[in-house]
Amino acid sequence: MAELDLMEKIVSLCKRRGFVFQGSEIYGGLAGTWDYGPLGAELNDNIKKYWWQKFLYEREDIYKLDASILMHPRVWEASGHTEGFTDPLVEDKVTHKRYRADHILEDADIDVKNMSVAEMGEKMQELKIKSPDGNLLTEPKVFNLLVEAGIGAVEGEKEKVYLRGEITQGVQVNFKNVLDSMHPKLPFGIAQIGKAFRNEIVPGNFLFRVREFEQMELQYYIKPEAQEGARQYENWKQFSMDWYRGLGIRQENLRFRQHEEHERAHYAQDAWDIEFNTPFGWKEAWGIHHRGDWDVRRHQEYSGQSMEYVDENGEKFLPWIIETSGGAGRAFLFTLLDAYREDELGGEKRAYLALAPHLAPTKAAVFPLLKNKPELVAKAREIYVALKKEIPQVVWDDNGNIGKRYRRQDEVGTPWCITVDFDTLQDGTVTLRERDTGTQERVSAGDLAALLKNKIEA
Ligand code: GAP
Repeated sequence: MAELDLMEKIVSLCKRRGFVFQGSEIYGGLAGTWDYGPLGAELNDNIKKYWWQKFLYEREDIYKLDASILMHPRVWEASGHTEGFTDPLVEDKVTHKRYRADHILEDADIDVKNMSVAEMGEKMQELKIKSPDGNLLTEPKVFNLLVEAGIGAVEGEKEKVYLRGEITQGVQVNFKNVLDSMHPKLPFGIAQIGKAFRNEIVPGNFLFRVREFEQMELQYYIKPEAQEGARQYENWKQFSMDWYRGLGIRQENLRFRQHEEHERAHYAQDAWDIEFNTPFGWKEAWGIHHRGDWDVRRHQEYSGQSMEYVDENGEKFLPWIIETSGGAGRAFLFTLLDAYREDELGGEKRAYLALAPHLAPTKAAVFPLLKNKPELVAKAREIYVALKKEIPQVVWDDNGNIGKRYRRQDEVGTPWCITVDFDTLQDGTVTLRERDTGTQERVSAGDLAALLKNKIEA
């Protein structure tokens, strides 16, 4: 399968089968926004549940938080985002399309490492670089990615606020609240999932670069010691990679990459990405950052409130922070790209999603063999209703013949299909068919819930 072809197939499958729709589609769409449909919303929730399971519930040192999207504007001054959260922007003078100046120079094989925005402008002039449409470009200017909003009831007197550019700051400003209310001992972490917003100059590649997305983040507070920092940093890199592998993604499609100094965000002393091998190259899936005491120091300075931790010897200090942060939308896209398969089964071509059962939006589909036999339908409904009580992500399907139902369920990654036939009426067994191999076995309907729950566990 050609690589770009794969991306087109995923985008088309997502729309056709109710995973993802373009944001505000009936109005022509809003660039950089996507809406999750019935199956996509389930898959997305399953990814987030799996994150909570590994980063919170299976540990004893992590606390959950759910902070506001809107925050005091000073937060973003303290965090360095009003100043440092920028990209260099140029505009086509004819079409008014906007581009990243660094990307345009890189496409012309220019090394932009350590280049200031002014130097990028000089280089573009020197090389007479035009826009991809062949037109003149404006001088590059610094463009801040924070999305602005106005709050307050009086028009003209609204206060300018920002939609959070990273969910991190909600955690950092609550560091003291968690300390004072829960009394954790270092090292400990605060975990959060929530929406972040970035005014990306060029959103694109479907869910990869968008303007509204969900982040899953852990801020892990540690003693400010070099050895401890290195140890914890390595732990969280590996922990994050293990989590990504748990999405069912093949190891050959994942790798680590360290940021060079010029790439690092303003808050990071060290930064490594987990990258995924996409049809458009190796791209960032996840970031693990050594933030040092950047956030707590800055918030202490800007708010005037102490952010210090007092240890068992009465020693006061600012902790260091190791952060592990990833986009749910990217995990969603990369999981689908990795899971998409085409093969031939029973002499018929098919496409299926080899999704890990714990992520599959539908765990099992229950069918009556024939939909015009009331006794079969009644038995199948009885089995379906009982199973759905135990495993809510189970569906009913009686459209078309059995072969078509299998193809339809395979295409959305349903791991098992359960057929209720005439033998069921006699002996209480059903046919359980497995998605990837198409193999079938007879099992007792009464055993289904326990059997499937066991197989679904992450
Ligand atoms: N708090 C650290 C932070 O925000 P980041 O590397 O800028 O670090 C973390 O973002 C993760 O958020 C990325 O690894 C990526 O998965 C996701 N992400 C960032 N920008 C995104 C965008 N425009 N669209 C989709 N996901 C994005």
